This record gives sequence, structure tokens and C-alpha cells, in this order.
Amino acid sequence: MKVLIIGRGGREHAIAWKIAQSSLKPEIFIAPGNAGMKTITYQTGSTVHLVDIDENSSEVLCKFAQENNIDLTIVGPEAALINDIATIFKGAGLKIFAPTAAAAQIESSKQFAKDLMQKYDIPTAKYKTFEDYESARIYLDQKGAPIVIKYDGLAAGKGVVVAMTNEEADSALRDMLLDNHFGKGKVVVEEYLQGPEFSLLALVNGKQVIPLAISQDHKRAYNGDKGPNTGGMGAYSPVPVIPQDAVDYALNNIMKPTAEALIKENCEFCGILYGGLMLTKDGPKVIEFNARFGDPETEVVLPKLKSDLLQMILDILENKEVVAEFHDEAFLGVVLAANGYPGSYEKNIPINDITKLSQQVFFMGVKEDNGNLFSNGGRVLIVVGKGKDITEAQKDAYNGVSQLENDNLFHRDDIGWQAL
Ligand code: AMP
Ligand code: GLY
Repeated sequence: MKVLIIGRGGREHAIAWKIAQSSLKPEIFIAPGNAGMKTITYQTGSTVHLVDIDENSSEVLCKFAQENNIDLTIVGPEAALINDIATIFKGAGLKIFAPTAAAAQIESSKQFAKDLMQKYDIPTAKYKTFEDYESARIYLDQKGAPIVIKYDGLAAGKGVVVAMTNEEADSALRDMLLDNHFGKGKVVVEEYLQGPEFSLLALVNGKQVIPLAISQDHKRAYNGDKGPNTGGMGAYSPVPVIPQDAVDYALNNIMKPTAEALIKENCEFCGILYGGLMLTKDGPKVIEFNARFGDPETEVVLPKLKSDLLQMILDILENKEVVAEFHDEAFLGVVLAANGYPGSYEKNIPINDITKLSQQVFFMGVKEDNGNLFSNGGRVLIVVGKGKDITEAQKDAYNGVSQLENDNLFHRDDIGWQAL
């Protein structure tokens, strides 16, 4: 069995590492991957080939998959989904676990997602969409702060402003609708919600929805959830503050109805549906959907999964019954990032040898030079610890971090603090 994984970060490293442990003994190709992923070979015994094709070159990837008789392709990054890699592969008769661009609108368009949720009664914050500043400003005056302003399109994680004052909200509206900071687009203005957040990732094919363990990520750069937003500085799974009945409610009233709604709207979903949820006093509500594995959530959620991920994906693609079992332990990941990230950051930072670490390391942004690893991205790697609970997993992760620390790298000291 030959499996192609598309992407280059920690998320794709975790997917490949998990797939490599399948009883189906797959041969794994990662396009383009990163040099750190070669560690999978000595850890699992599976062969891993890095393929020098950019994740956005859908047609070239399709040709590669055809010529190399790839049996299954799994897609990491959102950009590839928006290029409609799923439709291109399916058109060529190739098996792919990824939503079409039409279905991925659940992530790529805030308005699409909000309209779908409203139409099908899926719990989310009340909202209105605006194209011009004047009408948005009138709505803001009616509702008042705190209020949330979201750009309707891709904005590299910077398109959401949680405004605590009317002035902040007004400045966000001006930025997005008058100055067209992210390009000319619409803005969703929505009710401010409060409560602990959690991510629920599920394997989906049409109506079938198989949830993985819940997790929580840490988006801000510095301790105490301070500083700029990042791609994620750490994550943990499970999330003890979220009771099981809230997870069950989210599965039955959010995830399953959303999969069914997408069928009714003629954009049936296949792939990973990621619910970014908040447990409000009125129950779980959707903050956002993503159409892919989350990063860095995947780096803790897949270690927590006991079942064979490759078998699960093959089964769901054939509408067979899917078995999902989980380890009892907790998993917690701490990201080491290059100084300066998420602004301009240092590169070529040497990375210590990880072979003696008992913790799992997933590489996010590294390259190889003369057999040694050096950083080439803002987020460089994530160290994943495990233990009987979050406290133990945190201790384990930070033990690993202390062995990889370096003056040119930084990390948060408080990953998992909400859970302790
Ligand atoms: P998003 O990109 O939609 O996930 O939003 C980024 C972050 O903004 C979320 O993780 C929340 O912490 C916050 N946020 C988004 N929408 C709301 C809301 N309606 N109320 C409160 N906080 C929100
Ligand atoms: N960790 C958030 C995301 O993957 O979008």
C-alpha cells in the first residue's frame, strides 16, 4: 500500500508517523515534507520518501500519484484544498481523503459557514454580514462592544478581532472595509461568546462522522495568553474542563448536523471536519470550522488515538464501520519557535539530536545540512509528552524541551495551564 501525504509541517509529520504504524505496513511519500520527518523510519521501521513537489502544485501531485501508483492521498494544508486538489485527484480516478473546494468553504468563507449554521440551526454566535462600512457601523452602534469582527476570507489567522470597546471594533471595521487591509471583502460581525474553547476533529464521509479525542491549542505567542497570535504554540488532549456530555452534545447537535447540511447543500464533505467550539453557559457553540487536521492539535490528538488511522480512513472512504479507540493517557505538546516569531525570525538555528529523547518530537520547520538539522521556519518543532493526566504529560513534555533548548529558540512555559 502506497500513501501520499501532502504538506510540510508538524501536522503532516504526525499524520505520517501515525500512518507509518499501521498494520498495513504502508510505503509513505510526503510532498514536500521536511528533513525531520526522516526520523519516522528509525522510529517505526516504515520507509518514508520526501517528494520535492510543492503542496500547491495540484496537477503535478496528481501526475506523481498516477505514475507511482499511490493508493491513498491525505491532505494537510488548507491551501491545497482551496486549489481543489480533491476534485482533481478524483477526476483522475485517485483515492483522496480531503474535501472538495466547495465543501472546504466551511473553512474558507466565514459567511458560507455562518449562513449554513443559521439555516440548519447549528448553535453559533448571532451575526450579520456587511460589505460596506456605514451599515456595519450602524449595527455596531446598536449592539455595542464586546463584539467580534471577522474578515470573510483567508487572512493568515489575523482576520478576527475580538473587540472589547466600540473604538476597537470601529477601527477593525475601518481596517477591513475602508482600507481593504486583507483585500476587498465582506465582514461578519458577531456576538461575543464566553467559555472554555476546545477543538473536536472528526473523520467525515458524507453522513458518517467519527470523532477523535478533543484538544485545546494555545494561539498566543507568550505566557499567560499574551502577545501576538501565532499558528499555535502548544496543545493538549484530552481537555478535562469539558465534560463528556458537552462533547456528546457537540457531536450530535453540531458535527453530525453539519455533515448532513453539507450534503443537502450539494457539497458533501469527505475528510477531517474540525469544530472550533466554545462551551458557553448555553452549551457548546461553533466559533469556527476548519476543513482539515488542526496544527498543532493533530500532534497531540493522533498520539492519543490507539486505532489504526490508515485503516480508519480506508474504512470510512468505503462507508464501512469505523472503530476508534483511544489511549487512556494525556498528551501535551510544547512548540519551540525561532526568536522573533511570529514576526521576522532567525533561521539556520542548529537543532540538538533528538534520538535520545523519550518524548515524541514532530518537526515543523527544519532542513538538513550534512546530516544535521537546522531551522527554516518560525515554528521549528513540537515536543509531545505523555502521562496519566495533563500534569504528568506537561512535566514530561518540559523535560524533553529542556534537552532541546537553545538561546535562539523560545517556547511558552504554561502550555496546559487551563487544565491544571
Ligand atoms: P477564529 O479564527 O474564528 O477561530 O477566531 C479566533 C479566536 O477569536 C477564537 O479562537 C476565539 O478565541 C476568538 N473568537 C472568535 N469568535 C468569537 C466570539 N464570537 N466570541 C468570543 N471570542 C471569539
Ligand atoms: N490550531 C488551529 C488551526 O489549525 O487552525
